[in-house]
Amino acid sequence: MQTDRTDVDTLFHNLWENYCRVTPSAERIHRLLDNSQGKAIVNDHIALRTFNIDKLNLDKLAAHFLALGYEQGGEYHFDAKKLYARHYEHPDPTVPKVFISELLVEQCSDALQSIVHQLVDNVSPSVVNQSDFLYSGRHWNLDYATYQTLLEESEYAAWTAAWGYRPNHFTVSVNHLSQFRTLAEVNQRLKDEGFRLNTSGGEIKGSPQDLLEQSSTMADRANVAFSDQTVSIPSCFYEFALRYPKPDGELYSGFVAASADKIFESTDSKG
Ligand code: NI
Repeated sequence: MQTDRTDVDTLFHNLWENYCRVTPSAERIHRLLDNSQGKAIVNDHIALRTFNIDKLNLDKLAAHFLALGYEQGGEYHFDAKKLYARHYEHPDPTVPKVFISELLVEQCSDALQSIVHQLVDNVSPSVVNQSDFLYSGRHWNLDYATYQTLLEESEYAAWTAAWGYRPNHFTVSVNHLSQFRTLAEVNQRLKDEGFRLNTSGGEIKGSPQDLLEQSSTMADRANVAFSDQTVSIPSCFYEFALRYPKPDGELYSGFVAASADKIFESTDSKG
């Protein structure tokens, strides 16, 4: 099919700029790993978070990517965290994959449901279709106490309420790095430079048998202007992925639910 590469590149450029504004460590890590001879860092995937309320659910976010020629990939269930996710990939394998999750709001407490519905009621349905929606931030007022109430029940709900629509992480494709062959080498370099890794489920999630190994930093912290005060809270993190070939020789392009489950914890404020 016709690959509208310019539109894809523009979207990811805008997503990256938005992400770096609250994730200063990503640019430092980018420079640290990109010491090759002009071989640019390849982005394996980004991840987006939302609530499963019709107005702005997973499908509404995915529509932006389907319009760019993406196709639906696998689906993933995270029962304990009350999340559902799908990944999307483009026929052009050099275009980043997209992992979109949504909180299953109706499975949460009445208090959480009531808060989230109030937030979402403030969103005009038309903004969800606008081309900049995926990096448009928060579309509701939120005070710090409400953020903390959400945080007690669901770190995911609190993060999404505070940050709104923006990439939760970008992901370095370790397969495309020239100076690092394994995830352990990448992790060691990051630790040597003082970066803190997510150790939930071990530093490396997944295995060659899973066809995907992943690691990630713990999220940076950045100021959020709540309606009553500005507070520094976990923002976004950087992920690293090493993919292995399937029997047909093509690199595995899916995700591993057990690993993604632990990666979600990279934005844990207690982490
Ligand atoms: Ni990821």
